[in-house]
Amino acid sequence: MKTILVAVDGSEHASKAVDVAGKLARLYDARLHLLHVVPFEPLPEGLVAFALAEKIPIEEEVGRWQSARLLGDALVREAAERLRGQGLEGVETHVEEGSPGPVILAVAERLEADLIVVGSRGRTGLAATLLGSVSHRVALNARCSVLIVR
Ligand SMILES: Nc1ncnc2c1ncn2[C@@H]1O[C@H](COP(=O)(O)OP(=O)(O)OP(=O)(O)O)[C@@H](O)[C@H]1O
Ligand SMILES: [Mg+2]
Repeated sequence: MKTILVAVDGSEHASKAVDVAGKLARLYDARLHLLHVVPFEPLPEGLVAFALAEKIPIEEEVGRWQSARLLGDALVREAAERLRGQGLEGVETHVEEGSPGPVILAVAERLEADLIVVGSRGRTGLAATLLGSVSHRVALNARCSVLIVR
């Protein structure tokens, strides 16, 4: 086990996943990659120009995306610092945009991850559900092993 990918969304569940992934990385002397996916995409440039020309107010949309992006950067940075503070080396961070499930799978492929670690639930789901749609999708479609942390 050389490469572990852990996906974080700012939830308590994901934070637990980071702790478990950190312990496994230490045990296996593996590289640990932290990934947050900003779950929506910025407006395409052409559309922004069109909106400006038509005087359609999109500041709110753009602002929302910028905040989500900054939040994502802060999330992975905070988690990485926590792990490094525990003496773990070889921690890397990634922030990508798009649909979380497919992006997590694509990054895992790109990194040739041996293991993906996710929380069973995240911050957007209903309290009653046992498994979120992102962890479900990752578990079903990943080509490597997946650890779902509860
Ligand atoms: N945007 C994201 N970026 C990175 N990892 C994510 C993201 N969203 C979810 N995850 C990962 O998937 C795990 C499960 O979250 P998921 O989104 O599936 O559940 P949920 O938010 O409770 O429900 P749902 O989103 O399906 O309504 C999280 O603990 C985290 O590890
Ligand atoms: Mg979610």
